[in-house]
Amino acid sequence: MTTPVLLALETSCDETAAAVVDEDLHVLSSVVSSQIDLHASFGGVVPEIAGRAHVALLEVVVAQALHDAGRSWNDPQLDAVAVTCGPGLIGSLLVGLSGAKAMAFAWGVPFVGVNHMEGHLFAAQLEAERVGFPHVTLLVSGGHTMLLLVRGPGDYVLLGATIDDAAGEAYDKVARYLGLGYPGGPAIDRLAKEGNPKALRFPRALPGDTLNFSFSGLKTSVVRTVEREPELSRADIAASFQAAAVDVLVKKAMRAVALTGATALVLGGGVAANSELRRRASEACDEAGIRCALPSLDMCTDNAAMIGAAGWHQLRHHGPSSWDLGANPSLTLDVEPL
Ligand code: KG4
Ligand code: ZN
Repeated sequence: MTTPVLLALETSCDETAAAVVDEDLHVLSSVVSSQIDLHASFGGVVPEIAGRAHVALLEVVVAQALHDAGRSWNDPQLDAVAVTCGPGLIGSLLVGLSGAKAMAFAWGVPFVGVNHMEGHLFAAQLEAERVGFPHVTLLVSGGHTMLLLVRGPGDYVLLGATIDDAAGEAYDKVARYLGLGYPGGPAIDRLAKEGNPKALRFPRALPGDTLNFSFSGLKTSVVRTVEREPELSRADIAASFQAAAVDVLVKKAMRAVALTGATALVLGGGVAANSELRRRASEACDEAGIRCALPSLDMCTDNAAMIGAAGWHQLRHHGPSSWDLGANPSLTLDVEPL
């Protein structure tokens, strides 16, 4: 008997993505078309442009994903279609959701709406070496920063979250201020390699026992410092900002691990692609004698394979979604409080 296979779509922000994933979470294909070039000159994602670009790109991206997985449009031999239904930009979400419903209807298979954040939580399960439960996940993206105890697939306890900016948002805002363009995270990551992380001492917010984060003071501190000393090296600022951000992320993640007794730390979300965060998290986990699960860079940033993995879980445990499921730009993750 062949393993069931689904097509997954992701269009919540500025990446048009499609993937074919089987029920054992093997990724048969994963295609991501980034719209970075369309938004770069505006210094950030322009929702209207993103929505229109998804309309133009979705069919091409799906065709490529089906082709790469050895499937055809007319008879793709699929068992379901999964799609991100929130959170994200409403116009962008609607393109993926409408497309997914149309394809599932035409092919006569069920469709399932997936929470984008849950997709990020499943990304590590796509790697060859699966991560056991319970583990702690540090989820750091452009819109969210959360520490979660993952007791099993779909079973989450919220340990901490940002009280203001997300980590990726702080990277993007500081990069924009420094004139490094969009997206800011990779730009700071690159520039920081040329700078001295100890050149400036930026604040580490909310020290002590809390597992919550705050990044807006760090961003303001960078701005005030540059206003005071405009001649400072941009590379030193980038490296010192990154040192402060990563310091807080890793310390709190390790505190969460100690508090819960978890035997693995998983990183997820776009900021999990950050080289310094990956290095410091690995080091800290080695010292603590626990596993550090770092999804490949492609699986940290937005992609459809992770939506496929979460889609399989959703189908198994909750069944298909209703055809009248709508897009929800502020969809939250179903979590238990600590
Ligand atoms: O998960 P993601 O692709 O989209 C959201 O769901 O938000 O995350 C995007 C965020 C952006 O803020 C981007 O600047 C950040 O991830 N990012 C990085 C790196 N690559 C992407 N931040 C720091 N270092 C990186 N290498
Ligand atoms: Zn994301």
